[in-house]
Amino acid sequence: MSVTYTAASASALFMNPWEMSALEYNYSETTTTFMPLEDDDDDNVKDSIIYPGIYAPSGFDILNILTRVAMRPSPVVDLGPVDASCAIVVCDIEQPDCPVVYANESCALLTGYPLKEMMGKNCRFLQAPGGQVRQSSTRRHVERTVVEQMRNAIDSNGELAVEVTNFRKNGQKFTNLLTMIPVCWDTLTPKYYIGFLAEKS
Ligand SMILES: Cc1cc2nc3c(=O)[nH]c(=O)nc-3n(C[C@H](O)[C@H](O)[C@H](O)COP(=O)(O)O)c2cc1C
Repeated sequence: MSVTYTAASASALFMNPWEMSALEYNYSETTTTFMPLEDDDDDNVKDSIIYPGIYAPSGFDILNILTRVAMRPSPVVDLGPVDASCAIVVCDIEQPDCPVVYANESCALLTGYPLKEMMGKNCRFLQAPGGQVRQSSTRRHVERTVVEQMRNAIDSNGELAVEVTNFRKNGQKFTNLLTMIPVCWDTLTPKYYIGFLAEKS
């Protein structure tokens, strides 16, 4: 017997919003991602369904972005191995002052800033205790050449690996091993920059 779940019946089961939207997904006739399990064990679910959207409640397809980064044609910076624990921010360079549009939990853990507080800000907020750093202001804690390096990299759509003095929300100073990589989306010019952050030990 097959049971059809709908968003309405799902809400009665107290599913979260992305689980519900996943259930509303319309599979095309040619969908190839439906993978029936071959295991005959009756205790197992027979038909596995891949719920599109379920792994990205943020709406950001980070795996796609990371794939583009890994497959980029002319890498300048050697990223080395990247795993899921890596602190990541994504900034939209088509928006004024390049705001953070995505940050992951590891980034919140590293910086001490909750994700909500990072969203919409330029990452320079990490350059001073208290997070108040105005655009074009003289930095008190970060060398001018480092700030220029980062600005020039973005202006020229370039990659950069740099050490920058940053501050956690609690004011604690740390050296951030930052790598910035441009990410193209539908065009040949980058739409996003992804930043990989790590504390220098
Ligand atoms: C994706 C991305 C991540 C960044 N991450 C950091 C960061 O973690 N710490 C930092 O001090 N600056 C970071 N920056 C750099 C600043 O946002 C900014 O570009 C830099 O301060 C130079 O620009 P400004 O002179 O306008 O401040 C990042 C930039 C981008 C695009």
